[in-house]
Amino acid sequence: MYSTHSLAGPLVLTLLGACGGASPGGEAPGAATPTAQDATFVAQADRGAGLYGAHCASCHGPTGGGKGDAPRLVGLKEGALPLAPPAGAKARKGTFVTVGDVATFAVENMPPAAPRSLPAADYLAILAFDLRANGIVLEQPLDLAAAAKLTIPR
Ligand code: HEC
Repeated sequence: MYSTHSLAGPLVLTLLGACGGASPGGEAPGAATPTAQDATFVAQADRGAGLYGAHCASCHGPTGGGKGDAPRLVGLKEGALPLAPPAGAKARKGTFVTVGDVATFAVENMPPAAPRSLPAADYLAILAFDLRANGIVLEQPLDLAAAAKLTIPR
């Protein structure tokens, strides 16, 4: 079982035994795993920072603090990524229990004008950046199997 009670402690994830869930965007299952350029979590999060800046920051703010209708994505203590949809949410209907829930929402809804427009590996990289910005550092690059098992610390 995982223990994700500590934001500071590195989370050790078992990346074996991916359970073959459908990958977003109808892509080949292989696309749901990090690419060679995301060989480490740090490299993945660094790449994700650039992607976040290009595709997400205009609405969610340069450091993920939120802006206007776009909720904050960084700052769990300040209420980022709440379990239930924020008041007034239009697109979001479901709860965010795991990082996988956030990934699924982002792939299916973000950016609002072009959902599913990025490769799966890019959504994962953006999520890795967002995790790190929230103080969560993984020992392996983020993939969908790991995201589904990683409970957002509350
Ligand atoms: C054009 C503005 C815009 C862009 C660009 C954008 N978002 Fe959003 N995002 C929103 C809005 C508005 C919401 C609230 C959706 C709703 O009504 O539920 C949202 C919600 C979210 C949420 C859910 C937050 C919560 O607490 O409910 C996530 C996660 C998210 N966006 C990730 C991303 C990512 C990742 C990108 C870049 C790939 C991105 N967004 C790009 C406007 C934007």
